[in-house]
Amino acid sequence: MSKPVVLVTGANGEIGRSLLERMHQEGRYSVVTVDLRPLPERYRPLCLENYAGNIMDRYLLDQIAAHHEIAVVFHLAALLSTRGERDPELAHQVNVEGTLHLLRMANSQSQRLGRAVRFLFPSSIAVYGLPDVAEKKRAGRVTEEQWNVPITMYGCNKLYCEHLGRYFTQYYRQLGALSTAARLDFRALRFPGLISAETVPTGGTSDFGPEMLHAAAQGHPYKCFVGPDARIPFMAMPDAVQSMLQLLEADRERLTQSVYNVSAFSPTAGEIAARVKKIYPGAEITYEPDPVRAKIVDSWPEDIDDSRARRDWGWNPAYNFERAMDDYLVPGIKQLYAK
Ligand code: SER
Repeated sequence: MSKPVVLVTGANGEIGRSLLERMHQEGRYSVVTVDLRPLPERYRPLCLENYAGNIMDRYLLDQIAAHHEIAVVFHLAALLSTRGERDPELAHQVNVEGTLHLLRMANSQSQRLGRAVRFLFPSSIAVYGLPDVAEKKRAGRVTEEQWNVPITMYGCNKLYCEHLGRYFTQYYRQLGALSTAARLDFRALRFPGLISAETVPTGGTSDFGPEMLHAAAQGHPYKCFVGPDARIPFMAMPDAVQSMLQLLEADRERLTQSVYNVSAFSPTAGEIAARVKKIYPGAEITYEPDPVRAKIVDSWPEDIDDSRARRDWGWNPAYNFERAMDDYLVPGIKQLYAK
């Protein structure tokens, strides 16, 4: 039997590249990718087919769906939170309209195949909005339902798309003739800031974590755009990929909701800097908080309560802060910049 086909949008991004490598190692899926920028040469052999194009192009999506029996969609393409504040309308277009195009495609694919296409969506801590640092401290670890009042366009987009996904799964065209046809099966993860040994993110607001580390590894000074006390949750990329694959494979009957927090560790910017300096004693890290970016970070929770994910589908991160640094990030980054 041929392997199920997985479509990955934004495959050339930070999560995408790690996901492609991991799926290739496991060898259980055939992967089709779409990204604005063509995939670098080394990732292409990992995939069945690569499309360079825009998710706003519905004809391209129809063409992809016509050529492949897509069983799973990882919809990773998005503009992150800082970029989204620079161009809110574009963020809305890509993050919301783009997602709608993918949901629509996955739904017609579900009808065509007569079974639910699984649709995996990375949401974010950006869906939360705490009014100030005092409230953030009081709130501590927040559950999925608390503080859903984001202050960024990106956060609003992610929160709304979580609802769209739930709607498509349970109610899409509930009045129409096709109301009993197969619908897609949407599953979202609310990720903390992600740190990868291979890539530095672009346009995010949690970027100070990865940027600090990658700058030190290259011997560059780093000006941190939040103060040393700023605290948000982070996760090592292998755990993020693991959580997506685990949620993908979870039995539908075990899922009590369509949206899950996943958490790993939660250092302050100062604690990240201290760890980086221990590894790279010459690292030059200074703080020059940007008022808006710092406010966005202050509006995100200190940590998120992921007990629902642990209970429903056995989520358990492999990397705490120390292990993430010592066993994954530092060796990976040393290798990256030695090339
Ligand atoms: N990492 C994202 C950002 O900073 C949040 O999900 O925008």
